[in-house]
Amino acid sequence: MSKTYKIAVIPGDGTGPEVVSEGIKVLDAAARRFGFGTDLHYFDFGGSRYLKTGETLPDSAIDGFKKCDSIFLGAIGHPEVKPGILEAGILLKIRFSLDQYINLRPVKLYPNVETPLKDKGPEHIDFVVIRENTGGIYTGLGGATRVGTQDEIATQLMVYDRRTVDRCLKYAFELKKRRNAANHRYAEKPITLIHKRNVLTHCGDLWFRAFEEMGSGEYPELRRDYNHVDAANMWFVKNPEWFDVAVTENLFGDIITDLGAMIQGGLGVAAGGNINPDGVSMFEPMGGSAPKYAGQNVINPMAAIGAVMMMLDSLGESGASQAIEAAMIAVMQKMMSQNAGKMGMGTAEVGDKVATLVATI
Ligand code: IPM
Ligand code: MN
Repeated sequence: MSKTYKIAVIPGDGTGPEVVSEGIKVLDAAARRFGFGTDLHYFDFGGSRYLKTGETLPDSAIDGFKKCDSIFLGAIGHPEVKPGILEAGILLKIRFSLDQYINLRPVKLYPNVETPLKDKGPEHIDFVVIRENTGGIYTGLGGATRVGTQDEIATQLMVYDRRTVDRCLKYAFELKKRRNAANHRYAEKPITLIHKRNVLTHCGDLWFRAFEEMGSGEYPELRRDYNHVDAANMWFVKNPEWFDVAVTENLFGDIITDLGAMIQGGLGVAAGGNINPDGVSMFEPMGGSAPKYAGQNVINPMAAIGAVMMMLDSLGESGASQAIEAAMIAVMQKMMSQNAGKMGMGTAEVGDKVATLVATI
């Protein structure tokens, strides 16, 4: 009997709903072609709902998500809502409540996609960043006092415990092992820990020792490397071909993955997964809600389609996931650019073309 996946869909704000519909179009095509079912449940969380009702994300929604197989998120962000409210109230709340402790961000340059890096092509840019996704500065510990005076003090603490570090590293080492087995080009490269242990001598030391102990103890066959985060930024630009699996803490991961998104062709193509390996994960295009492009059929839905591809892979539908990737590659070959308004085709046309190819692949 074929499986039916229960999927929570949060289209969100701005261009979120447009790119999500194209992702769903491709998901439906894959479901028909590969013989699985989908049971979609839509939720209207986002800035517009918050402005109307004052509610970001009720606890009952989290209970609902826990009963799903996966979550597909468009974009959250509204120009009239003060920064911090929707981020903490929706996105971070989902990550924390569902313990999505891995943020998986592939940085893969596809053929015919333009990178700002001179003389670099798809053979140079093909790695993944694993960003720890629930700890560090995002824990929210800290506070402020004497606010508004000349003596104001503010703290926001980088907090890590060994268990949080170890479970993230475990995921990274296991992924590295799978990638090495799948492709000899990956096997030639190390797994790289990125931190700032020359200054963050407590947190950095915890990560470094945990990395060394797990690596030498459980994965002696995997070559390990370490980069300070500032240097990693430099190498992402100068020698991206050095990387295969890079693992890092939360805030550093947030920062370097925006750089990663740019070198793989921009926010039109970059997708990511907030993953709980034993629970419910959430997949999203990395771009924001881009309100100025909303409703114009000009935004690139490829990142959202890439999120669907990642979701199906995590659900075990690897055939469907590979078919989507092949279809994306074929359609990107025909696009003039991956940037909004410059694609040479409209948002819906991109989705139609990918869906048609998935149906016939
Ligand atoms: C991301 C975003 C979020 C983060 C924001 C919106 C809270 O930048 O997913 O990278 O910082 O994690
Ligand atoms: Mn970010």
